[in-house]
Amino acid sequence: MLSKKEIYAQAMRELERRRQQSSQTQHSHTLEAVSLSPEIGRLRRELGKTSIKLSKALLAGEGNPQELFEQIKEENLRTQERIHLLLDRLGLPHDYLSHKSVCSKCNDYGYIGQKQCSCLKKLLHKIAIADLQESSQLTLSSFDTFDLGYYSRQYSEEGHVVPYEHMSRLFHYCVSYANSFSPSSQGIFMTGKTGLGKTHLSLAIAAKAIDRGYNVIYSSVSDIVRRVSGQYFGRKQEGDDVLELVTKTDLLILDDLGAEFESSFSTSAVYDVINSRIAAGRPTIINTNLTPGELEKRYSERIVSRLYAQLVPLHFVGQDVRMLKAEGQPSK
Ligand SMILES: Nc1ncnc2c1ncn2[C@@H]1O[C@H](COP(=O)(O)OP(=O)(O)OP(=O)(O)O)[C@@H](O)[C@H]1O
Ligand SMILES: [Mg+2]
Ligand SMILES: [Zn+2]
Repeated sequence: MLSKKEIYAQAMRELERRRQQSSQTQHSHTLEAVSLSPEIGRLRRELGKTSIKLSKALLAGEGNPQELFEQIKEENLRTQERIHLLLDRLGLPHDYLSHKSVCSKCNDYGYIGQKQCSCLKKLLHKIAIADLQESSQLTLSSFDTFDLGYYSRQYSEEGHVVPYEHMSRLFHYCVSYANSFSPSSQGIFMTGKTGLGKTHLSLAIAAKAIDRGYNVIYSSVSDIVRRVSGQYFGRKQEGDDVLELVTKTDLLILDDLGAEFESSFSTSAVYDVINSRIAAGRPTIINTNLTPGELEKRYSERIVSRLYAQLVPLHFVGQDVRMLKAEGQPSK
């Protein structure tokens, strides 16, 4: 994971790349236009000369500075107009020869006075999120590869449902959730035994949300606990930074609640993350294969009832698909 300093250095390199790129573009546009119409080159040199003319005149104390300034401004405008006319003839836009920054507020320097520009802040955020995702190995799955044929069409004791029908409804809920996802969507609490597709469907939602331009952080609970609890082991800043990122992202997916190493540190880190998401009104998808009873034994009743109340509970049923696949059982 990158430190704050490394993230900053990366952002600065990106800004420098943007500045170089726009200079290069301006340079090649100018070469192109001048080769097509040498008159443009001559007029641009003339523009360059006027400021020299002005300072020379001012230094020599000739004439009224204000009048001189106005006169030169007039001259410049006329030269500009002639350049525009020539560009028109070439079918090129009037701003073809001007320097174009990605961010016009700071000209890609990242600062307005002493203050960080919004483009730099956005860049820092983007780099930090990409880094977090990279280290949590976000490998996406899709709805297309989710096969409902693995769920039995026979009535099952567990949950008193037909798994195929129940899972069909659940699957379609996830598809429409992903298609209409927004940062103000509700969260989802996926429960059920191992191998039933909880991780598969949450990653399919993640893929769709990312496709639609949203920021998604996917992490196992044990991983997030390790990062956030940096603050409990003296690396407070790093933990705080992760918590801030995790709080702000459009969608957070916490996989495998209950699989993390059990300690008071980890429990309070889990609370911190869940509570900060709820407070920020941002959606979280949480997966667990613990039963409600096991959850309550491990976490406080308050947080567990919060999870059921704040998130849409989806209970997965059926036979372990991981096992069915390993045994080479075809879907029906
Ligand atoms: N309906 C399905 N169609 C195709 N593949 C599936 C389906 N359900 C699960 N799988 C596959 O089976 C494996 C296990 O599924 P997954 O990891 O989603 O289970 P899980 O409910 O998250 O289990 P755990 O509680 O152990 O984490 C994965 O490789 C997944 O892609
Ligand atoms: Mg899983
Ligand atoms: Zn900017």
